[in-house]
Amino acid sequence: MTAADPRTIYLSDYQPYSHLLEQVELCFHLDPAATRVKARLHMAPNPLRPGKQDVRLDGEGLKLISCAVNGEALNVVPDATGLSIAAARLPSGAFVLETEVEIAPEDNTALEGLYMSNGMYCTQCEAEGFRKITFYPDRPDVMTRFKVRIEGDLPVLLSNGNPVAQGADWAEWDDPWPKPAYLFALVAGDLVNFPDHFTTMSGREVALNIWVRPGDEGRCAWGMASLKAAMLWDEQVYGREYDLDIFNIVAVDDFNMGAMENKGLNIFNSKAVLASADTATDDDFARVESIIAHEYFHNWTGNRITCRDWFQLCLKEGLTVYRDQQFSSDLRSAPVKRIQDVLALRARQFREDGGPLAHPVRPDHYIEINNFYTATVYEKGAEVIGMLRRLVGDADYARALDLYFARHDGQAATIEDWLAVFAEVSGRDLTQFKLWYTQAGTPVLKVSEDWADGRYTLTLEQENPPTPGQPEKAPKLIPVAIGLIGPNGDEVVPTQLLEFGEAKHSYVYDGLGARPVASILRGFSAPVIVERSVSIEDRAFLLAHDSDAFNRWEAGRTLGKELLARMITEAAEPLPEFLAAMEALAFDDTLEPAYRALALRLPSEDDMAATLFAAGHVPDPAAIHAARDALHLAMAQQMRPRLAALESAMHVPGAYSPDAASAGKRALRLGVLGLLARLDGGSAAREAYYDASNMTESFGALAILLEIGEGSTVLADFEEKFQDDRLVMDKWFAVQVACAKPEAMADVVRDLTQHRGFDIKNPNRFRAVFGAMAANHAGFHEADGAGYDLLADWLIKLDLLNPQTAARMSTGFESWPRYDIDRQEMMRAALERILASKGLSRDLGEMAARMLAR
Ligand code: PHE
Ligand code: ZN
Repeated sequence: MTAADPRTIYLSDYQPYSHLLEQVELCFHLDPAATRVKARLHMAPNPLRPGKQDVRLDGEGLKLISCAVNGEALNVVPDATGLSIAAARLPSGAFVLETEVEIAPEDNTALEGLYMSNGMYCTQCEAEGFRKITFYPDRPDVMTRFKVRIEGDLPVLLSNGNPVAQGADWAEWDDPWPKPAYLFALVAGDLVNFPDHFTTMSGREVALNIWVRPGDEGRCAWGMASLKAAMLWDEQVYGREYDLDIFNIVAVDDFNMGAMENKGLNIFNSKAVLASADTATDDDFARVESIIAHEYFHNWTGNRITCRDWFQLCLKEGLTVYRDQQFSSDLRSAPVKRIQDVLALRARQFREDGGPLAHPVRPDHYIEINNFYTATVYEKGAEVIGMLRRLVGDADYARALDLYFARHDGQAATIEDWLAVFAEVSGRDLTQFKLWYTQAGTPVLKVSEDWADGRYTLTLEQENPPTPGQPEKAPKLIPVAIGLIGPNGDEVVPTQLLEFGEAKHSYVYDGLGARPVASILRGFSAPVIVERSVSIEDRAFLLAHDSDAFNRWEAGRTLGKELLARMITEAAEPLPEFLAAMEALAFDDTLEPAYRALALRLPSEDDMAATLFAAGHVPDPAAIHAARDALHLAMAQQMRPRLAALESAMHVPGAYSPDAASAGKRALRLGVLGLLARLDGGSAAREAYYDASNMTESFGALAILLEIGEGSTVLADFEEKFQDDRLVMDKWFAVQVACAKPEAMADVVRDLTQHRGFDIKNPNRFRAVFGAMAANHAGFHEADGAGYDLLADWLIKLDLLNPQTAARMSTGFESWPRYDIDRQEMMRAALERILASKGLSRDLGEMAARMLAR
């Protein structure tokens, strides 16, 4: 277990920092090989830590040039993780501590701290990157005002806050809002801007800029429109206004994550901000919109109110994801957004929660905090907030948030602070609810039903499976939204919220004229796995009649899963009822196309492996792949006579627009083309590729053709058109791996790593190949273990350059316990090989050890 590692950090060890920081002044003299950083820290004793304290500053990989206290040179020798100054060498009361260090941004391949990307300087400080820039108390509860001077021979020099002054090769910035070091940012480069402005609700004029490399200006309009929409939405829905004169966004090609909410200077992976009709798909447009909003929303939930320590990460991330989901839901279709979010939750978070990497939404120990930017902290963290809102109601949710902002503005807060505002506003005791933050694992909700003499009895049971370090668990408070539907499709009991908090409980409904069909967990009211045996007739009934759009989709989904499971384990034939129901949904013109497109998508192979494993089977990746193929073909045959008509009905003519309605039509059209390809050898998809007027259509058609093994000509055409475009070429790399036949996948990956465009140092490119590889379920789990070996080889190589990305990508192995003994052994051997590799990082080391349950 990781808990035994001497490097482990515990929540229970929290102590406030020894000193307060009243202000910090930084001066950067930029040079690729030898940047000088001068820091002046205005420090004072912290009354929370009585007695005269030593000063401990974090610092890694810094060459110390000088150190002085109150202007007097001090001889100090840093150790591997920082610098200590004994209390005896410090004056009493407040003092100024000055250091100068030298760093080499051009050698920084970890992309943490100050680094270079295409000749541009940029920073990434969350979670603990600032200590690679200067000696500093690098922890989120040390908040202070930053004044920054940048000296460098580059046209654009940016930092946080408002610009103060600038000259030919220098600029000064001043951020009036106290912040922790992880929100510091600096950018310097030959950039051009896409400007706009926004007037806030109190009349403040804010200059907005998106800064990009020359040539990318034409891909900024959508990001800018999204930013303005997010600013307006946060004023209207949460009453939150922007608080500086300027808001800058910078696009960077080399970036470990999606984007970063640095105060007033958000830094984005270019993939998460740039979008144009001919280079980005509808999904990309939607993702840009939501990530722009996410980072902007952090200005209040993360920056104005930050985290006391990194164990509280979900305080800002869970809440900010919840807010960005609400935003997208308001701007687009709420049911479609909910289905997409649940699909992602199940694919990533349930997978994590059901394996060796399971951890609570608020972990209580870690070795490397970078390893806890997870689906559990983010997406389950957001679900927990959704549950809290369902329990207290919309009005109390709004009051609780107002109180939270009023009470904690300017502070570094905790989950206890967050829950306290809800408890106070609603008068509820949230002790049991808090288990959602402290217990790992996805609860299983078992449903049984009884009908007799006009009385319907619903019995709920919950099981909270053991997870690493948590063998036994008390029952949680699970909000279960249910409705009862009568035989004619009317709601006999409209949606109500059951607050289910025991191991087992029965709910009785009397005086019903006929047996109702229950719709359970409407809107996916809690992140649980429902176990319920329902007849095919009842599922088909729900699919046709449920007034809850989510559960209507879910009925089809569950039916599909059950059928696939039987096709895999019992060689069952595709069920006519299922095929007829899918056809009815696909052609139901009263439903929006985006929803119909989602309904047509079968459960993923990984999802099927998890489902079979939970049911006590050992999943066979090849059998899963074959059954899913067979079901797709059966769906295509079922709908054959009507597919061409639907395909042309979903054609969106005219100039491309990324709006949700047009995107939904394109999604349904591509779904139909995918089915048609199984009947016509790809001729309709090929035609769609050559007729395409936007990336959604051309890339969608390319993927369909690759999947049926007919893609080589269009693949070459695509490469020729886009070879100079990094973001589009990421798609080109990824799609070949994602759509490779299982037995060919390892060779495809090997060839791509030899391609002149492959670059191990660029996280997007690495993820394009190896993320797609781990997601090609049947290919990754080919019986010869070639996929496992390849992933281990490349993680070991990448770890020496970029530990953070190597560690994230290692989750390809997290579900090893599901599979047969041979595969388990091969995956464990791959992890052992990683653990034994020379120069293994703390990041990847912790991940491999946790996966092996060490
Ligand atoms: N805080 C960023 C976000 O969610 C994510 C991030 C974490 C980026 C760590 C970089 C490094 O919005
Ligand atoms: Zn975030």
